Amino acid sequence: MDCFRIDGPVALSGSVPVAGSKNAALPILAASLLAEEPVELRRIPQLGDVRVMLRVLECLGAEISPWYHAADSTPVPGGSASMPGGSALALSVPDDGPCEVPARLARAMRASFCVLGPLLARRGRGVVPLPGGCRIGPRPIDLHLAGLAALGAELSVERDRVVASAGRLRGATIDLTGPRGSTVTGTANILSAATRARGKTVILGAACEPEIVDLGRFLVSLGARIEGLGSRVIEVTGVDGLGGTRHTVIPDRIEAATLLLAGAITGRWASSAESTVRLTGVSPGDLAPVLAALRGIGFDIAEGVDWVAIRSAGRPLPAQLAAEPHPGLPTDVQAQFTALLALAVGRSTVRDDVFPERFRHVAQLRRFGASITVQAGTATIDGRHALRGATVVASDLRASSALVLAALAAGGRSTVRGIHHLDRGYELLDAKLRSLGARIERVTQETAGRRAARLALPAAVAG
Ligand code: UD1
Repeated sequence: MDCFRIDGPVALSGSVPVAGSKNAALPILAASLLAEEPVELRRIPQLGDVRVMLRVLECLGAEISPWYHAADSTPVPGGSASMPGGSALALSVPDDGPCEVPARLARAMRASFCVLGPLLARRGRGVVPLPGGCRIGPRPIDLHLAGLAALGAELSVERDRVVASAGRLRGATIDLTGPRGSTVTGTANILSAATRARGKTVILGAACEPEIVDLGRFLVSLGARIEGLGSRVIEVTGVDGLGGTRHTVIPDRIEAATLLLAGAITGRWASSAESTVRLTGVSPGDLAPVLAALRGIGFDIAEGVDWVAIRSAGRPLPAQLAAEPHPGLPTDVQAQFTALLALAVGRSTVRDDVFPERFRHVAQLRRFGASITVQAGTATIDGRHALRGATVVASDLRASSALVLAALAAGGRSTVRGIHHLDRGYELLDAKLRSLGARIERVTQETAGRRAARLALPAAVAG
C-alpha cells in the first residue's frame, strides 16, 4: 500500500489546473448506458472510482476507448493533463448485453448503484449488489428503490443484490427527500431512469448539486426532456429513445476546495504576502459556499470567470460552520475545514448535517496535536498555534485529504497511510501539491521494503 511522506510546513504558491468532477463523471458514465449512439465524454478525471465505473460499464457490454487528448485524439498515458476539457473517452453501449454488476465492483464504490436506473430504462432488467463506498455513516438506498418502484420497476433483494425488472417504465411523482435532505446519487438514478419512461415524472425534493445539473445537461444533450435542473422540483417528459452526444464534465469543486484549503493552511509561512495559490479551469459559482466560508475566516480570495486564487494570510479566524445539502457548505469539504480550523485563533465548531457520523478524521487529526472533540454530529475545535508531524491513517476519501492538509502545515515529517482512499477520488493530488511547492512524496510498499532491506545490510554491501 502506498503512503505519503510529507515534510512541513511549506507555504504553497503557484497555479494548477483542476480536474473534471468525480461526482459528475460517475453518474454521467452510468447514464451513458442510455445512449443508443456513441458518446464522447471530455474532462473525465483519471482516478480510482472512475476506473471502477469504466469496468462496471465494460461488464455490462459497453465498448470504451482508452483516454485520448480531445484536441488531437492522441493517447493520454496514465494521468490526464487536467486541461479544461483536455482528456476524453468514447463509449458505445449496445441495446442488449449483460445486466448484472459483479459484486467486487459494486462493493468498491457506492456510485456503482447509479447504473440500476439506466439499465432498467434501456434493457428492462438490472441486478446490482448492495453498494459499498466510504464508511462515513449509514448510507441507505431506500429512496433509490422507492423511486424506481414508483416508476414501475419490480424489485427484490436476493443474496445482497437488488434484482430489478420492468417493462417500459412509467412516469410518476416521486419525493426523494430523506431525513437529511435529498439524495444525490438517488436523484441521479431516478432522473436517468425517467428520461425513457412513458409520460411525465415529477421529482420532488430533488438534489440540486451542480453535479446533478451537469448530469441533467448531459441527458438533455442525448435528447431527454428535462425542466427544473438545479431546483428542488425536476420534471422529466419521457422520450422513446436517446441518441449520442459530446459532453464536457464540470470541474471538480471538491478538488478545487481541497487545493484552496492547502493554500489557506500553509499561507502563514509564505515569505511574501503576495504569494497565492491559483486554480485554473474552475467554476467559481459552484464554489460559492466554500469561498464564502474561507472569506469568513479571514482569507483574501480573488476570482475570475474560470479561476480562483487565495492569497497567503495568517492563522484563520474561528468559525461556526455547518455542512448541508447544496447550496450549503458541502459535506465533502467538512473534514478539510476541520483540519484548517485546528490552527484557528480561538474556538470553532463544525457540524455535519448530511453525515453526522462523518468525523473519523478527528482522532487522526489529534495525533498532529489538534484539540478537537466530537459530540452529536458537531466537532468543537480549539485552535492551536502549531501542529506537529505525525503518522496517521486515512479512513475514507475526504478524511485522507484532511490529513494531507494537516501534514502540510505540521512541523516536521508526517506519514499519511491509507491513501488508496485518496486515490479513489483525486487525480494526481500529490503531483499538484508538489508543483505548488509542497514536500510530499509517494512511497510504495516496494520502495519502503527496499529501503528497509538496504538499511539492514552492512554499509559496505549496501553501496
Ligand atoms: C453523494 C456524493 C458524496 C457526498 C454526498 C452528499 C457521489 C458519488 N457521492 O453521495 O460524495 O458526500 O452525496 O453530498 O455523488 N439517504 C437516505 N436514503 C437513500 C439515500 C440517502 O436516507 O436512499 C440519506 C443519507 O443517509 C444521507 C443523505 O441522504 O444522510 C445524503 O446521502 P446521498 O446524497 O444519497 O449521498 P450519496 O449520493 O451516497
